[in-house]
Amino acid sequence: MSTTDSAADSAVATHDQAPAGPAPALELGYSPETAGRLEADIERIIARYPAGQERSALIPMLHLIQSVDGYVSPAGIALCAQRLSLSRSEVSAVATFYSQFRRHPSGTYHVGVCTNALCAVMGGDEIWQAVAEHTGLGSDETSEDGTISLERVECNAACDFAPVVMVNWEFFDNQTPETAVALVSALERGEAVAPTRGPEVLPTFKDNERLLAGFEDGHGDEGPGAAGPSLRGLRIAREKDWTAPEEEGK
Ligand code: FES
Repeated sequence: MSTTDSAADSAVATHDQAPAGPAPALELGYSPETAGRLEADIERIIARYPAGQERSALIPMLHLIQSVDGYVSPAGIALCAQRLSLSRSEVSAVATFYSQFRRHPSGTYHVGVCTNALCAVMGGDEIWQAVAEHTGLGSDETSEDGTISLERVECNAACDFAPVVMVNWEFFDNQTPETAVALVSALERGEAVAPTRGPEVLPTFKDNERLLAGFEDGHGDEGPGAAGPSLRGLRIAREKDWTAPEEEGK
């Protein structure tokens, strides 16, 4: 991590409204190397948006902060506020609205067990219990060595593969308590694991956060995307020669 909680907390201004002027990543506790890289990346993100719409860059900027700090740190909030002429409260309001933004340091591998309705019916609660017992972690907690963080997550839009576990937002489909504990054990041992879909090797939390900030990692074409149950309806429709009705008025 390039900035510590204490360094960032002491460096962040205590008043809510960010002062005007250039983004002082260096002054916020980031190392010179990290500060230079952060500010260059922020410029690239902001440049994607039309003049006058710079605030639209906030979401990818928060992912960028997580790619450096492992969570939306106080320093990161202050930096986003400075660069977008927002108050720190406004940045925090966005960061706390979306559950993908973490308020505590994430592990190298952030494990999300879906316990929403369908996954729960299919065994998600038993998976949660097994993984929580194995790691000794509760929801939103991180292991002392920083390898694993654990979270109960809501529906991941992967109900057709329930019950689902996500690690660093990558899918591990059709899990059982045994396979989920085996997955976490492999991560604890530092072994490379392959998600069911997506990249061939699971990226770290920070690497995937950089991807979510809009910086390609070169793995976009790896692994299956839509497959199996997701395509069953399409296959049946094609077999029966079904088509969608025309849109009214066309
Ligand atoms: S309920 Fe778990 S993915 Fe939808």
